[in-house]
Amino acid sequence: MAYLIKGVSVLGGAPADLVIRDGVLAEAGPADEVIDAAGLVALPGLVDLHTHLREPGREDAETVQTGSRAAAAGGYTAVCAMANTSPVADTAGVVEQVWRLGREAGLVDVQPIGAVTVGLGGRQLAELGAMATSAARVRIFSDDGHCVADPRLMRRALEYVKAFDGIIAQHAEEPRLTEGAQMHEGEMSTRLGLTGWPAVAEEAIIARDVLLAEHVGSRLHICHVSTAGSVELLRQAKARGVRVTAEVTPHHLLLTDDLAASYDPVYKVNPPLRTRADVRALRQALIDGVIDVVATDHAPHAVEDKECEWAYARPGMVGLETALPVVLGVLSDLSPDHRWELIAERMSRAPARIAGLAEHGGRLVPGAPATFTLVDPAARRVVDPAEMVSRSRNTPFAGTTLPGRVVATFLRGEPTVLDGKAVR
Ligand code: DOR
Ligand code: ZN
Repeated sequence: MAYLIKGVSVLGGAPADLVIRDGVLAEAGPADEVIDAAGLVALPGLVDLHTHLREPGREDAETVQTGSRAAAAGGYTAVCAMANTSPVADTAGVVEQVWRLGREAGLVDVQPIGAVTVGLGGRQLAELGAMATSAARVRIFSDDGHCVADPRLMRRALEYVKAFDGIIAQHAEEPRLTEGAQMHEGEMSTRLGLTGWPAVAEEAIIARDVLLAEHVGSRLHICHVSTAGSVELLRQAKARGVRVTAEVTPHHLLLTDDLAASYDPVYKVNPPLRTRADVRALRQALIDGVIDVVATDHAPHAVEDKECEWAYARPGMVGLETALPVVLGVLSDLSPDHRWELIAERMSRAPARIAGLAEHGGRLVPGAPATFTLVDPAARRVVDPAEMVSRSRNTPFAGTTLPGRVVATFLRGEPTVLDGKAVR
C-alpha cells in the first residue's frame, strides 16, 4: 500500500506532502490511499526506553500484545521492555521469548532489556553475554524495580558490558534508606504519618554510580530521575564527560507528593512523586539537556494490586497513552518550533540512539523508514481509563484534560493506528 499524507507539518514546519511507498518515505508519486493531514504534525515514531509489559507472568495486567497496542496508540514505534517479569528476563531464553512475542504482535519494535543480576536478586551477575548474543541482541541491562545496590556488583556489570558498549540502566534507590517507604520524605509524609523515601536515597546511588562509570569508562543510564539534587549530580557528571544519560517520566514532570493526601494508590509510584521544586528542576533539565529522555515507566497493575489500602498497593502508573499529551502540556510555554524539536529529540531520537535502534528516531526525509506518528496538537482530550488500550487502567490522569491526540502511527510504512484507533 502506498499512502499520501497530505498537508502535514513535519515537526511543526510548513505543510507538505509525505508519500510512503515500500515501507519508506518517497518523493511525490501515486498513492492508493490519501490521508488528509491538514493541521497535523508528523513526529518520528516515539521510542520508550522504559516499559513494563508484564509478560511472561502477569498477563492479567498486560501482555506484549496489549502493551504494544497501547504503545502504538500513544504514538510509539519502539519500546524497551523491562526485565522484572516472572520469570525474570535474566537469560537468553526469556529475552528471546519477549522479543519473539513483540515480533508476532508486530505493532511496535519490542527491544528486551535484560536483568543485571539473577532473579533481580542483587547477588550474582546474570548471563549478560548470552543475552547480548541472543536473537534479542540485548544492549541495555537493568534490575529496574530494584537497585543494583552492591557497588562491587555494579562495577563488575559496568565492566562486563563495556566490551560491547552496553549500558547499565540503574534504578537509583539505596535500599537501606527506603525501608518501608511509602512516599516522598518531606513535610507531606510527616503530616500523613507515612514512612518517607528521601531524595538522598536516589542521589547517593547516582553519585556513586557516576563515579563507577567514570572509573570503568562504561555507559550508565539513570532511570526515572525524580529530584533536583539528582539533576545537579548529572549536570556535574556530564560536564566532566562521564558517559551517563538520564530519563524522566511524564508523571514526575507534572505531579507532586501532595496528591498522596488523598490516599488514592493511583498516585503511589517508585520513585515517589516529589515536590514542586523538584518538578521545576526536572522540567528545566529536560529543556537544557541534562535529562536526555522522557521515558514512561509504563507500569500496568491489575485492579486487586492497585485498588487496595495505600500501604499494600503496588507502585506504578500506566503511561504509554498519555506521555505525549502530558509532555505537550508541560512544554506549552515554549515556541511551537522549540517544543516539537524538543519532543522529537527527547522522546524519539535520543532514546533511539541510547538503545541503538537504528531504524527509529531518524529524520523524515525521502529514503528514510516510514516510521512516524501524526499528532493533532489542537485536540484536547479528557483522559478516560475506560477508553484505555492497555489491559490496565491505573492512570493518575483520569478526568484530566490533556492537549494533543495521536491520529495515526506508522511502523515501516504499515499503519498501526489510523483515525486514532489501533488497527489490530
Ligand atoms: O513504580 C514503579 N513500578 N517503579 C518501579 O521501579 C517498578 C515499576 C513496576 O514494575 O511496577
Ligand atoms: Zn524503576
